[in-house]
Amino acid sequence: MAKIAIIGTGYVGLASAVGFAQLGHDVVGIDIDEIKVQKLTSGKSPIFEKDIEKFLVKSLKKKKITFSTDYKKISKAKFVFLCLPTPQLDDGSADTSYILESSKLLSKHISDSATLVIKSTVPVNTWKAVKQVLNRKDVLIVSNPEFLREGTALEDFFKPDRIVVGCEVEKKAKEVANLYKAKNAKVVFTDNTSAEIIKYASNSFLAIKLSFVNEIAAYAESTDANALEVLHAMGLDKRIGKEFLKPGPGWGGMCFPKDVSALKESAREKNVPIPLLDAALESNLKAHARIVKKIIDALGGSLKDKNVAVWGLAFKANTDDTRFSPAISVVELLIAAGAKVTAFDPVVKHVQLSLK
Ligand SMILES: NC(=O)c1ccc[n+]([C@@H]2O[C@H](COP(=O)([O-])OP(=O)(O)OC[C@H]3O[C@@H](n4cnc5c(N)ncnc54)[C@H](O)[C@@H]3O)[C@@H](O)[C@H]2O)c1
Repeated sequence: MAKIAIIGTGYVGLASAVGFAQLGHDVVGIDIDEIKVQKLTSGKSPIFEKDIEKFLVKSLKKKKITFSTDYKKISKAKFVFLCLPTPQLDDGSADTSYILESSKLLSKHISDSATLVIKSTVPVNTWKAVKQVLNRKDVLIVSNPEFLREGTALEDFFKPDRIVVGCEVEKKAKEVANLYKAKNAKVVFTDNTSAEIIKYASNSFLAIKLSFVNEIAAYAESTDANALEVLHAMGLDKRIGKEFLKPGPGWGGMCFPKDVSALKESAREKNVPIPLLDAALESNLKAHARIVKKIIDALGGSLKDKNVAVWGLAFKANTDDTRFSPAISVVELLIAAGAKVTAFDPVVKHVQLSLK
């Protein structure tokens, strides 16, 4: 069993920490948020995620997991995972400052010949910048992007479709892959840079697919066609696949919007623009407005003083994450159009609206 440190205990970090502890590893989770650390230590999950609290309590009882705000507590870990935020900056690129600041701090505390694993979604060549600020010849950097989906985070952790491990040294990559004990997962061993791109390319492909689905659904609805039958029949073609063919109010969450923007910016910097990404972003904004237009049409052309109920506020079902939620955009557009909105979500406790 390995000694593992997880830096950042948010949606990805907590699922990974609890998952690794359940597999029998000794895990310490580090976060700068004191309240979060206190909650986790007392067996309470700060996020809504299926089974996470159950596994958290089990691992706390077995003393397989601890939490702290103190970076010194990582000094015994042989594998240190960075699960820190990489939010979108104003120009669309990804903010890597959390990763780099944390790596600087880790430099003082990480044990000899430990492995630093980047699990956050990071722009191309971030691993080189991490290597530079870490400034520790004995520590290898492994790029191991995370693909879990909120709502099924633990299921995805224990049974991933694939595990991507990028590293200059094959032996180290294998050690990281083995930590997951995922017998049936396909493991892709590659270089660090390819691993970084695989994550952005995967999320961007899915976002483009959803934008196309929403546009085809809107087009089909403008004719006599049945949009759902059109999409179902498309999905029967193996090259297209059945997944991600459901139309909706647009994609959102803390990954797709920022990852599409970051890839777009990164490609532009390299002078290889990807216009499909611009189209997907623009199309997604139209998807929010399209839903509101449907409601306006259904209510006789105006929403002034109309009561509208909204069911669901998170960016998808089975999570409490409202970051970049299309439902919130729809609520804001409804209010702007004069509607009185009553919204309900079984797990979201509060939301921040930006009303003009
Ligand atoms: N949320 C997802 O579904 C998902 C899926 C795959 C990949 N990712 C990627 O994983 C990364 C993390 O995403 P997330 O959704 O878990 O983020 P999050 O915001 O939920 O969690 C980040 C955590 O890091 C903590 N933190 C911030 N600065 C810190 C520091 N200096 N030291 C220690 N802790 C610190 C925060 O307090 C927070 O608890 C991002 O790059 C994201 O793109 C997210």
